[in-house]
Amino acid sequence: MSQTVRQIAELRNSVRRWRRKGESIAMVPTMGALHAGHLALVEAARQSADRIIVTIFVNPAQFAEGEDLGRYPRAEAGDLEKLRPFDPDIVFAPSAEEIYPQGFDTAISVGGPSSGLESDTRPQFFTGVATVVTKLLLAGLPDLATFGEKDYQQLLVVKKLVRDLNIPTTIIACPTIREPDGLALSSRNAYLSADERAAAPLLFETLGKLAGQIGGGAAIDDATAQATGDLERAGFDIDYLTVRNARTLEPVSDPATEPLRALVAARLGSTRLIDNVAVPRNSDADK
Ligand code: PAJ
Repeated sequence: MSQTVRQIAELRNSVRRWRRKGESIAMVPTMGALHAGHLALVEAARQSADRIIVTIFVNPAQFAEGEDLGRYPRAEAGDLEKLRPFDPDIVFAPSAEEIYPQGFDTAISVGGPSSGLESDTRPQFFTGVATVVTKLLLAGLPDLATFGEKDYQQLLVVKKLVRDLNIPTTIIACPTIREPDGLALSSRNAYLSADERAAAPLLFETLGKLAGQIGGGAAIDDATAQATGDLERAGFDIDYLTVRNARTLEPVSDPATEPLRALVAARLGSTRLIDNVAVPRNSDADK
């Protein structure tokens, strides 16, 4: 039976006990409203460590004024039910005051992969993510932590902060879990109207086509312009649709040799969706 823990000091006591026995620890940070994408992270953690900590915390620091903090789905009882088959040792679900007590005045600002893309429309976002992820990792000091490729820029930002701050945790990337029609699972899919939901899979379809064309040797600018047109005609309001270096997220200078990733953020009505796919290498496309 998992134990729900609300306080950092209590989490640390359990971690200390496990460490004394030489057990390994994995952490799965989430904001709750769990779906199969989150559960795949828990399963991956379960494969690689003796003890599992799942964290559920809707982090106010990563929401800007006017974003969906207030209406972000909160469903702790249902989340605990969904976690039950995976039997995590601890579900760490702190209050906002536990993480950000009165007088809290520190922020972790990550360079490199933080710049551009999500930061263009959400300038505070990665500082909020990096600050809470740092606090969670320092609270549990896990050997490894699992993050989804669904939030690819976030994954690179977390890898960078762990490296730069010498946090002794290995970050494991897990593939994006999708609906049968290709739409990446996201808590925000619940905001889509029936018409928007019907249009939403075009995001992944278009990304896949774009990645295939570029992997097959098409010019990045031309293929990206075509994909942008396809999405706009279907009613998507695009924040970015771009192909970048998969390790740094910098613009591509040599498509023949760099690992590439196609990334998109677009709105359908008032719902903002993000997705990304790997661009197959020329040699893969030939196979
Ligand atoms: P949240 O959106 O709840 O996502 C928690 C983790 O689940 C992230 O690592 C995310 O990439 C992963 N995830 C979400 N949808 C997925 C999918 N369809 N397939 C695979 N993995 C998926 O991301 C956050 O919370 C927060 O920013 C957090 C890191 C917890 C910091 O507050």
